Amino acid sequence: MRTQVAIIGAGPAGLLLGALLQRAGIASVIVEQRSPEYVLARIRAGVLEQTTVDLLDQAGVGRRMHTEGLLHGGIELCFDGARHRIDFKALTGGKQVTVYGQTEVTRDLMAHRHAAGLTTLYEAEQVSVHGFDTATACVRFRHDGTEQQIDCDFIAGCDGFHGVCRASVPAPALTVYERIYPFGWLGVLSETPPVSHELIYTNHPRGFSLCSMRSPTRSRYYLQCPAEDRAENWSDDAFWAELRRRLDPAAAQTLVTGPSLEKSIAPLRSFVAEPMRFGRLFLAGDAAHIVPPTGAKGLNLAASDVGMLAPALAEFYAGSTHGIDSYSQRCLRRIWKAERFSWWFTSLMHNFPETGAFGQKMQHAELEYLVGSAAASTALAENYVGLPLEQ
Ligand code: FAD
Ligand code: PHB
Repeated sequence: MRTQVAIIGAGPAGLLLGALLQRAGIASVIVEQRSPEYVLARIRAGVLEQTTVDLLDQAGVGRRMHTEGLLHGGIELCFDGARHRIDFKALTGGKQVTVYGQTEVTRDLMAHRHAAGLTTLYEAEQVSVHGFDTATACVRFRHDGTEQQIDCDFIAGCDGFHGVCRASVPAPALTVYERIYPFGWLGVLSETPPVSHELIYTNHPRGFSLCSMRSPTRSRYYLQCPAEDRAENWSDDAFWAELRRRLDPAAAQTLVTGPSLEKSIAPLRSFVAEPMRFGRLFLAGDAAHIVPPTGAKGLNLAASDVGMLAPALAEFYAGSTHGIDSYSQRCLRRIWKAERFSWWFTSLMHNFPETGAFGQKMQHAELEYLVGSAAASTALAENYVGLPLEQ
């Protein structure tokens, strides 16, 4: 088999890249190790920046997102038992975010790829990438019981944090920056109306909590939990009781509970691998970087990476290497800003026992400053709605 761009991974980065390349008249094949059902069953991000919405529109997959997605013009920060609204629209000249689940984005991109007759090879085993530092790159794997090889001009490593692409780069060529947080997020999805019409981020002495949603009838809630905790340790009743304890009295009273449809724990990590290009191999999305979910940036960064990679590859086929030569540097400028924001918001909202009473006083002073100062609120708002693709 031969194609122009072999894409490893059918998560949001790989699928969106495939759709953007198709628009530019560039052929791609996606190789994914899991089944489509497995990919769709992963409950992850829920908030899209306008830049991501624009890219999904550009790719021709925005129709359902515009009818079913919820536009949010702000969030609420809760501490000391009271909520304070951060008004994105007023603070950023009208900008908003769209609440539309990663599962739905993935479903739309899969349907688009299927309708366009583009090849995605699911359940590929023993995927390996070769020759990306030479003129003849290729991808090898087992599929349907036979050994296969795809020869290609470029390989796009969109295979997430645990993927094979970054791991195939010789260690001396990579610089890695990492912070692992001493807690995780326990998430529950339930078929219950959201407790409020906007997201509530709570700093509470018992730990952080987040009230989010997927639709007017489906909620997503998170609790800070110890990193080594297990979802099986939490009954639904225990989850709802703990969430209630961390909410302000009005929200605690309005909260509608129900059986969990999904319950899982995600670790929190900040991670960047530099650079993002090695000859004919490009890394994009979680394959190159991870943010803690507090700033809702993971999926948005995956989208903005491929939003830069697709035109860079189109430029290459039109005769210029400028786009692919500057890809890594341009992505990393934006990524580090999102890393900083996600780290800052995580540090502000979570309970860090090791920082002691002084650390708690610092958080409290910063929260009061944040909700009382237009300058500080604006800094939060403009980062949350998303910085421009190139700045
Ligand atoms: P992924 O979505 O990880 O996709 C990579 C794909 O590559 C997968 O389908 C995988 O099966 C495939 N793959 C891996 N290895 C191979 C291989 N060797 N060969 C072939 N295919 C391979 N972000 C938020 O903003 N909010 C959240 O609440 C949130 N929750 C999260 C919870 C979890 C458990 C995780 C892991 C992430 C979460 N994120 C969240 C982050 C967000 O979901 C990711 O940033 C986003 O999925 C990145 O997309 P991606 O396409 O780069 O990677
Ligand atoms: C979610 O809805 O899953 C979600 C929303 C906002 C975040 C993280 C996760 O910051």
